[in-house]
Formats: sequence, structure tokens, C-alpha cells
Amino acid sequence: MPNVVIVGTQWGDEGKGKIVDLLTEFADAVVRFQGGHNAGHTLVIQGKKYVLHLIPSGIVRANKLCIIGNGVVLDPAALIEEIQHLAGLGVVVNSNLFKISAQANLIMPYHRELDIAREKRKGKGKIGTTGRGIGPAYEDRAARRGIRVSDLLNRQVFESKLHDNLAYHNFMLENFYDANTFAFEAIRDETMRMANILAPYIEDVGHLLHEAIGHGQSILFEGAQGTMLDVEHGTYPYVTSSATVAGNAALGSGVGPTVLHHILGITKAYTTRVGSGPMPTELKDGVGEHLSRVGGEVGATTGRARRCGWFDAVVVRHAARVNGLTSMALTKLDVLDGLEKVRICVAYERNGSRIEHIPADPSVLEMCEPVYEEMPGWKTSVTLAKRKEDLPPEALAYLRRLEELTGVRVSILSTGADRDQTMILENPFQKL
Ligand code: IMP
Repeated sequence: MPNVVIVGTQWGDEGKGKIVDLLTEFADAVVRFQGGHNAGHTLVIQGKKYVLHLIPSGIVRANKLCIIGNGVVLDPAALIEEIQHLAGLGVVVNSNLFKISAQANLIMPYHRELDIAREKRKGKGKIGTTGRGIGPAYEDRAARRGIRVSDLLNRQVFESKLHDNLAYHNFMLENFYDANTFAFEAIRDETMRMANILAPYIEDVGHLLHEAIGHGQSILFEGAQGTMLDVEHGTYPYVTSSATVAGNAALGSGVGPTVLHHILGITKAYTTRVGSGPMPTELKDGVGEHLSRVGGEVGATTGRARRCGWFDAVVVRHAARVNGLTSMALTKLDVLDGLEKVRICVAYERNGSRIEHIPADPSVLEMCEPVYEEMPGWKTSVTLAKRKEDLPPEALAYLRRLEELTGVRVSILSTGADRDQTMILENPFQKL
């Protein structure tokens, strides 16, 4: 059975949550493979609002195995809060259907403090992180001092690692950042309390997935953030600290890349970005205001207003290459309804030269000017269309042009927030 990877092709917030929710119907299990509770999406099902940051949205459907892979950095307090939020809405997070990788690294309270202190110190040059401790937790993983989920089950190892970590981080917090330090006992006691709650969910996830795939089950790998926030292929240093691209679906969940069959890139019909860093098509005019207002472009995690702009085909071409996209889900096409003209950035220009690809040096991107192609807008709402052929001809032409410019076909088209405002033109789970 096919396995499908879902990734964002822009700067995150492409509407992955809705597509994951939709496609979960065809999968046996859903796995998060990177990021942490910096991600977030809101699901509205039968009038109930679920806000999820860590647990795959499959949890609200019966009998779907939901997994947090080794590539995720996990804040135990945030996870428990989410489990309680779901319980309050009548969704019991059953330990038979929810698993956490024993190999995932933990976000500890000092990681949050470090994240915030660093941003403060950077001042104007700040990255605009979500302040959740994501970066410092990944740093500890790379430095080989990270505390892992499996350590929650071994008090002696946990205490020894916590002791060493605090000696190092408290020194940095106090002497370099002039920030709060942390007491060993308080963190130990609180983490051990949470360990009791989380213990039933801890699992060897790579092994579990290997067995499931061997039994012919279909897996949906759920990426967070977007390609341009990838720690290597994004607009470094204005990126998150994990690999957000499709290859990491294998690495971050403990399976090999040969089991990833369909790479589905979620692509918004225009561009948005939260936080600092280059964004060539950003608009500060009435159209930007339209996209922000009609698209409801406010972050689900931090409540920050997103920067908005025209579709950038250079960005999505880059995403097609670094992810190896099989197809795209085009989302929020309805937000462009009613605009007189629509524009697409087809290339960049710098010092009189045309640039067709994302420059390897991100500081060059800062200086690039978008080269636009203009197309007529459409007056009737795309939300009325039930089939691709029902779209206003101008909207269909826009979609076709995006396919041409990115070299990737649209397999799913989303024309509104509801589950049924979606056209599945080609189901990634039904084709190998
Ligand atoms: P961090 O992941 O909190 O370290 O933040 C690094 C950058 O990634 C910042 O620009 C954030 O705004 C951005 N970011 C992190 N998570 C998301 C997300 O889920 N959607 C959009 N941007 C994100």
C-alpha cells in the first residue's frame, strides 16, 4: 500500500492540517517526523474546535494510529496539555492508538528560556522564533547532550543528564544572557511526574512502522512548517532548526527512503510568512491587506499576523526539487476571489540579471526583485465549483499556469475551510 509524505512548499501555514485530516481517512497511521509545538492547526469538526500542535489530527478519527517520531522535539508539558484539551472535548488519547518515539529529544524549561533570551539579545536581527525552545532543543541533540524520551523511564540516567545540562545551561543563562536560571529539584520532580503520565505511550516507533508497512498498512507522514524554513534549504538563518523537507520523513521516523511513495507538497495559492527574513513577493498594499483579511492570516501558535504576498513560483520550483514533489495540493484559491488582476512571480531580477532559482546565498535573496506575470482575476467564487471544470475560466488558467511554472501537477484543490470544499483530482493513496 502506498505511503504518502505531506510537506509545506512555502514558509509554512499552507493549510497542511486540513489536507492531513482529509487524507487520514485513507491511511492506517499518521506520523509527525520533525518540529515540535511550534506548529499548530485548528480543526473544526461538527462545530467542535480542536487546536493541535503536536498530536497528529488523525487522533479525532476512530482507529487511526497517531505517532510522534524520533525527529520531533517534544515538550512533555505541552503534550500533556494537548492530551487534556482533547479529553475535555471527549477525545480520549488511548495508548493503543497514540505512540511517542523513545528516541525523540525533550524540550526542557531551560530551552524555552534560552530561545527567548537569544532572541532578545539579537534585537533587530532576531529570527522571530515561536519562543517554544525548538532551536536550543535541536542544538542539544546535535551536541549529544540531549535528554531523550527513553530517559523518562530511567530515573538515574535522567538525573545525571539533567545535572550536566543544568550546569552548562545555567552558566550560559546567567553569564551570557543575564536570564533566569533553573533549580535541579524542581525540574526533576515535575518531569518525573509527567513521565508517569507519558510512560504508556513510549514506543520503539521505527520498529512499529517497519512492522506496519510489512503488513501492508499505509502511512501518512505529516511534515510541519515549510520548505523555506528548512534548516539547510530554507532562508538560513531565518529558518526553523529541523529539516522540513520530505527526505526527513524517513530519517525522522526510523524508516528507509524507499518506503516514501508519493510526496505531496501543500501549496497556498499566494505566499505568507511569519517571522523575519527575506520574502521577495511581500505586499504592503491593499492586495496584501486583502490576502491577510480574507485568508485569516494569523498564526495558530503565536497569534502573530503573517506577512502576505503574491504566489512565488521560484519558491515552489525550489520546493519541487528539494522535496522531489510528486504532486501538489493547492489551497486557499478562494482567497483570490474578486481580485481584478492576479500576479505570479515567475523569476527574480538582480543587477539586471534574471534569476530563475533560489540563490544558494540567502543574502542575495534579500536583494532580489520579483519579476511578475499578470493574469485576469475572476469574479465568481471558486467555492461554488464542485469539479475542476466548474471553476471560473480565469481561475482554471491561473491553476494551469502554476502547474506549468512549477512543473508539478495539482492533485488536490482546496477552495474553502470545510472538509467538503475540497476536490480530490487524484488520490495519492490510490496510485503507486
Ligand atoms: P522556531 O521554529 O520557533 O525556532 O522559529 C523559527 C522560524 O520558523 C520563525 O520565523 C517562525 O515564525 C517560523 N515557524 C516555526 N513554526 C512555524 C509554523 O508552524 N508555521 C509558520 N512559521 C513557523
